[in-house]
Amino acid sequence: MSNVCVDTTQVFKENLFAGKVLLCSGGGSGICRTMTTAMVKHGAHAVIVSRSKDKLEKAAEEMRLETGGQIIAVAGDVRKPEDMENAVKATVEKFGRIDFLINGAAGNFLAPFQGLSYNAFKTVIDIDVLGTFNLTKAASEYLKKTKGSIINVSATLYYTGVPFQLHAGTAKAAIDAMTKHLAIELGPHGVRVNGLSPGPIASTVGMTKLSAAFKRDGVNDYEGVPMGRAGETMDIAQATVFMNSAGASWITGTTLVIDGGSWMTNTPANYPEMVINPPKLARL
Ligand code: COA
Repeated sequence: MSNVCVDTTQVFKENLFAGKVLLCSGGGSGICRTMTTAMVKHGAHAVIVSRSKDKLEKAAEEMRLETGGQIIAVAGDVRKPEDMENAVKATVEKFGRIDFLINGAAGNFLAPFQGLSYNAFKTVIDIDVLGTFNLTKAASEYLKKTKGSIINVSATLYYTGVPFQLHAGTAKAAIDAMTKHLAIELGPHGVRVNGLSPGPIASTVGMTKLSAAFKRDGVNDYEGVPMGRAGETMDIAQATVFMNSAGASWITGTTLVIDGGSWMTNTPANYPEMVINPPKLARL
């Protein structure tokens, strides 16, 4: 039982976040979508933000059907401060407040560092690092009013230095630094700031790209994970609900790793060979 992923409604009270409002960048897809739907299943209203208006509207509609809750989509690019100010304005106009912010929008792909164009590196830094700053700055006055909680979505890549992830690992290191700085400055205003660092999660864009690049016949992708299974987006939703709950009221400035222990074991044994003879990395 201890190694089985269960729905947040089996662990936390259904009305935990009744009357509260979540703003989430990247909330229309992948891990952040499950983080958002979990918050809504526990009573929150939500606004999801990302670039592609059509995809976002479709996601919001599906999420409303799944949860029966109120979820609206606001198109915007996290790299543009004015878009983030607009997303905050739209949230407050619709729901009157912001209690929770999730900075989840991220860009990533696999590329050896010498194969990264100057613009490719800048693009990932801009989306991840500037994006997190832009939305946090835009929302912070409202979070102070509610004594809210911020979650920055991170990754463990830079703990060990994973091949072909220089851009993403560098960006996530900066985000983890931001988590601490923000916790120090927002703590006195009653706002908690934490990070969540997911490990390999089945069927996400990131894992699809990794598997396509590195999969070897007959090898279980998750054999090196101490807990012996792939993560599920619900594993991250569990941590999200906890981190936003009153149960975490003494936790700030920390980044929680949710990865079945995998960052400690996940550097591939054959990585020198991969670096000397990089696999063909498809653009997915
Ligand atoms: N390998 C190497 N370089 C890549 C790349 C890849 N797979 N994908 C994009 N780039 C480069 C582009 O060539 C471009 O550089 P250039 O101008 O020197 O040619 C630069 O990155 C920007 O790419 P562009 O597509 O113009 O930027 P964008 O802002 O539209 O989107 C991403 C960039 C990274 C967000 C895009 O790859 C993407 O949408 N990914 C899907 C989301 C994702 O990966 N989510 C997982 C998060 S963990």
